[in-house]
Amino acid sequence: MYTPRSAEWFVGDSEISVMHRVALRNSGVTEDLESGRPLIGIADSSSTLNPCNLPLRSLVEDAERGIREAGGIPVVFPVMSLGEDLMKPTAMLYRNLLSIEVEEYARSYPLDGLLLLAGCDKSLPGALMGAASANLPTLAVVSGPRAAGVLDDTRLGTGTALWRADHERQSGTRGTAAWKSFERALACGPGTCNTMGTASTLAILTEVLGFMLPGTAGAAAGSVARADAAYRSGITLTETVLRADPADTPQRILTESAFRNALVTLCALGGSPNAVIHLIALAGRMGITLDADTLDRISREVPVIADIEPAGAGLLADFDRAGGTPSLLHTLDTLIDADLRAADGRPWRTHLRAAETVSGQSPVAPANGTEAQRVSGPVAPANGTEAHPAPSLDAPADDTEHEPSARPGHLAGTARPIRPLTDPVAPEAFAVLRGNLAPRGSLIRLATAPDLRRVHTGPALVWHSYAQMRREVHDPNLAVTPDTVLVLTGAGPVGAPGMPEWGVIPIPRVLAAQGVTDMLRISDGRMSGTAFGSCIVHVSPEAAIGGPIGLVQTGDLISLDLDARSLNVDIDAAELEARLAARVQPEPADLRGWPLLYRRHVGQADTGCDFDFLTAHTPEQRRVVQPVVGLS
Ligand code: FES
Repeated sequence: MYTPRSAEWFVGDSEISVMHRVALRNSGVTEDLESGRPLIGIADSSSTLNPCNLPLRSLVEDAERGIREAGGIPVVFPVMSLGEDLMKPTAMLYRNLLSIEVEEYARSYPLDGLLLLAGCDKSLPGALMGAASANLPTLAVVSGPRAAGVLDDTRLGTGTALWRADHERQSGTRGTAAWKSFERALACGPGTCNTMGTASTLAILTEVLGFMLPGTAGAAAGSVARADAAYRSGITLTETVLRADPADTPQRILTESAFRNALVTLCALGGSPNAVIHLIALAGRMGITLDADTLDRISREVPVIADIEPAGAGLLADFDRAGGTPSLLHTLDTLIDADLRAADGRPWRTHLRAAETVSGQSPVAPANGTEAQRVSGPVAPANGTEAHPAPSLDAPADDTEHEPSARPGHLAGTARPIRPLTDPVAPEAFAVLRGNLAPRGSLIRLATAPDLRRVHTGPALVWHSYAQMRREVHDPNLAVTPDTVLVLTGAGPVGAPGMPEWGVIPIPRVLAAQGVTDMLRISDGRMSGTAFGSCIVHVSPEAAIGGPIGLVQTGDLISLDLDARSLNVDIDAAELEARLAARVQPEPADLRGWPLLYRRHVGQADTGCDFDFLTAHTPEQRRVVQPVVGLS
């Protein structure tokens, strides 16, 4: 017979059990706490400071209803709202803090299961890492992509459109009035980025890993499908908790095969480079070392088939209408392990079959960017496979004819948001580069760098701080040519701190005005998943801990050889040694508090930027130590 973990708090007639029952009763929980019904914690990360997560607030009721109907008792607790736009220097500085918060909520309170309401880039991985360490049955519900703003009959993909418009401004093709109208059009309501940025990528990967109901990652913010996802997740999670099967705990779900499926999916999406860091960190909590070279190998084998910005032309709404994750995995079924468990406990294979059975439906309807509507009140329960009918998108092997993609963001969307493997958007998504500039590796997203020269040697133009780069990059007298390699250091996990998305260095105005749209850029920071261009990021080790990228000087020759996967600076070892000996590291400004703690414990990009004391290499480290339940 099932006995919930929370029973230790509530069952009995001691003064301590009485105190616990009264405490929840004072919070308005009127259910019989001695009945053995599980307490399901809803981690609510909504905030008006974070428009990406704001829609989650309205999903709480839907989730509570599902939990109650399935026999659970919902309790809601707030968690830090990590919003990408407003938190500085970067929400990434707080991802590990959120993970600690979720883990310690789960450990210290009488919770039997976790429903994570998350959305923005760091919000979902941070919460998932905490839940994985806590090892309670867990599901996630995301806020969903926001509607697209429309300007001049073109849908605006979040982030991607902004970077494009800014380049046009710098090149002189977009004037002040057009820049202002663009700003007005860009504000189109709450929800996550509607492109294949980090939030969308992570939502889909969370689904693939088995922590989000199949087909729900792409449902629009405020839509009926989104509310339905919250409701059904409440039901499914409670049923999972009541089943009390150890196979349903994160440490059993997050296997090497599950991470391999996630990497295959990431490559097929041409997804955010940030996802690589988060997957490595999540795997590290499970004692699994995700090797960047594995990603490189998979990337050579799995083409990019999601025709979604910034790698492609569509938006998340198109991906969702094309059947979302089940349809994507159906197309990838020879490349993934379809016997792994989806979030409803059934093998993915059953969902792929469901995707196949509805083949022939139109993959995409014209989108106008305004279709998302909040519908309040109860929504009809669904069975988890019917909410997003999925067409088969497999094409015959000789099907080389296809509708060309619409221009990015155009109202017509894209003809095939999920392409067949025989007709990809790009042949490979990522490359992992090493050399004397990046001994522990660096990453480039090839899917969003179509103009990258596979072999390139050019002189470096180096900035050792973000502030300096921002001051100088648009200087009309900047000594720069299209062959110059822009280098930014001080953007890493320790140096910034937090590893902000400073790696997309703008094309200098002097070159933009000449029509240059891309050039090679290198940094020890990250890049936005919504951004594009020839940006080598995640250079490890970073400058702030003595990495060689910090020793590069303006004028040094940097060489990239993509086929050899190499990234080198043309300085001999003796000169590098001499520069290292002479280097004076800048004193960090933060001498106390969270930034100090963060700098002391954060790992480099190749370890997922997790804290050394949060990773768990051994079963003993992964053991969840329960609190003594007595007087507080
Ligand atoms: Fe929050 Fe993109 S900025 S999801």
